[in-house]
Parts: sequence; C-alpha cells; structure tokens
Amino acid sequence: MRDLAWGIAATGGIARTVGAVIAAEPGMRVAAVGSRSVERAAALAAELGAESAHGSYEELCADPAVDAVYVATPHAQHLEVAEAAIAAGKAVLCEKPLAASVADAERMVALARSAGVFLMEAMWMRFNPLIQRVAADPRFGGIRSVGASFGFALPYDPAHRLWAPELGGGALLDLGIYPFGLAQLLLGTPAEAHVTGSLAPSGVDAEAGGVLVYPGGRRALVECSLLGPYANDAYVVGTEMRADIQAPFWAPERVLLSGPGMEREELTLDPGAGGKQAGYVGEVREVRDALAEGRTESAIMPLDESLAMMGLLADARGQLS
Ligand SMILES: NC(=O)c1ccc[n+]([C@@H]2O[C@H](COP(=O)([O-])OP(=O)(O)OC[C@H]3O[C@@H](n4cnc5c(N)ncnc54)[C@H](OP(=O)(O)O)[C@@H]3O)[C@@H](O)[C@H]2O)c1
Repeated sequence: MRDLAWGIAATGGIARTVGAVIAAEPGMRVAAVGSRSVERAAALAAELGAESAHGSYEELCADPAVDAVYVATPHAQHLEVAEAAIAAGKAVLCEKPLAASVADAERMVALARSAGVFLMEAMWMRFNPLIQRVAADPRFGGIRSVGASFGFALPYDPAHRLWAPELGGGALLDLGIYPFGLAQLLLGTPAEAHVTGSLAPSGVDAEAGGVLVYPGGRRALVECSLLGPYANDAYVVGTEMRADIQAPFWAPERVLLSGPGMEREELTLDPGAGGKQAGYVGEVREVRDALAEGRTESAIMPLDESLAMMGLLADARGQLS
C-alpha cells in the first residue's frame, strides 16, 4: 500500500509540530500544506518535505494528491476547513476541540457520517501509552475520584488566540478539555457539572474549575486557567490503588502507582515512544490504521465522546458570569 498522503491546513504552532511528526513517521508523508498565505504554506512545505503549497484551505482540500487533511487552524475555523475536506472525500484529523460550538461540532460529525468519511478529534492525550495503561489498569478496584489541573499565566492580549472570542478563545476549550477529558476517559460523561470561575474583558472564560458528579458519589475535581501557574498534574484514586500522573498529565512520561499492600510501581514511556510527543505519534498512526482497515471513526477517540465533551464544556462555560 502506498504511503498515506497528508495535507496540513494552517502553519501555526501545532501545524508545525504535528507536521514534523507525520513527516518522520513510516507509512505516511506530508504531501501538501495549505495556508491563507501561499508564502507561509511554501515555507512549511519546504520544512516538512511536502511537494505542494496552496494559498487557501479550499485548494488544499481539493488537491487530488491528498488523502487526509489535518486541521490545525484556531477552533472557530475548524468547521469550515473540515467541511471542505469532507466534501472532497478526504479523511479528517481535526485539532481539539472539534469546533468552537456544540452546533458546529454536531454539523461536522453529521457531514462526516453522511459522507462516510473518517473524522477524529486530535485529542492526543488519549494516545499517550501511559494514559492508555492507566485507563486499562484493572487494579484500581473502582475509581472514586479523579483530579487534574491545567493552567498557566498568559498576559492579557485581546489579539491572542486564547483571549479572542472570534478565534474560539478561553481556558475551557483550550486547556479545560484536558482535565475534563481525563475525567471523561476514566469515569465517562458526568451526570452534573458544578463550575465556577471568571471571564476576561474580551468575554472569554479566563479560568474555570469545579466538580463533575457521577453516579454513586464518584467525582472529578477539574481546573483550568489562563490566570496563574497550576501543578498541571493529575491523580486517580481507586479503592485499592492510586495513580499519580506527572506533569504535564496530558503528555506524561512518568506515572506512579501505589496502594495498600502493593509495591510502589513506576511506569515510564518506552524510549522509542516519542517522549512528550508520543500522543501525536499515536493519533496519526490511528488515522493511518483506520484508513487501512476501512474504519470511519476511532474507538479510542469516538465522535460521540467528542460531542459529549463539547456539550460539557458549553455547560461549564454557561455557569460562568
Ligand atoms: N494538540 C495540541 O497539543 C495542541 C496544541 C496547541 C494548539 N492546539 C489546537 O490547534 C489549533 C491551533 O492552535 P495553534 O496553537 O497552532 O494556533 P496558532 O499558532 O495561532 O496557529 C493557528 C494557525 O491557524 C491559521 N488560521 C486560520 N484562520 C486564522 C485566523 N482567523 N486567525 C489566526 N490564525 C488563523 C493560521 O495559519 P495560516 O496563516 O497559515 O493560514 C495560523 O498560523 C487550536 O484549535 C488549538 O486548540 C492543539
């Protein structure tokens, strides 16, 4: 089978990082880069060894040499690019969050499903081998509580993507998706969310934190913030074992397992796993494998869970004033 040919939509921070992972991965290559500027597309294409550069995302999506489009624009532009890719019959790996609103995410999923085209949210945390080992470990004896935070101090600048409403800014969609997402992975979608926090002058959420409530009193304590430095680590407590996931918990290289009557155990990433980038390696391999096997959705990051997360984050945002 020939290599999977990727088109990279956008030339920002994550486009460059994941583009380099794709370029280094066997069985795939970057065939083209698309940007709002053909010069920026050409510069990243040269860096990634891609043969084509396009001055618009539409041209990239229409490129017959491209099998799969990686959408790496700000969230508010995800739907438009994914829609063009799906219409052209391309598989889509779309950066997290899937879109800037529940309605946009639902439309994207409906379009992909009716076209029978592969679509997955690039929630790389789920592809980190240590996160996968924690999620599959039967020794917790029933998880009672998950705690996770993701926060850093970002000087206020209404032009910055994270502070700008027109780019889908705010702590919840960008950072909160990881602590809320870890809870979702380990405990499912909560029955209730009780969230507090504050808004920035631009109207986006600057910080949010609270408790996600699950049947039987199980819970998750989650926080995200653009206003100050957090530990950025996570814990999982079961009746028989706990896991301490070292920072950054969404891309861990070390997890400690401990509990009564057990030897303390340290999990570390295999040297060849890609270090902090292991999740990116895993997500692009998932797209390659899904296409080879004729799957249109991922069982590791299912679209219904991406939609449930969009709903949960919108609920949380709605509780802030
Ligand atoms: N998985 C991860 O680890 C991770 C990390 C960071 C971000 N992300 C996600 O990836 C997406 C992009 O984040 P980023 O940090 O790469 O952002 P960024 O550095 O600001 O880059 C965004 C790129 O999107 C394109 N773009 C299209 N419309 C735009 C607009 N109206 N304003 C600004 N840029 C626009 C631009 O490329 P052109 O000018 O070439 O068109 C720009 O370079 C977000 O959805 C974010 O949540 C994921």
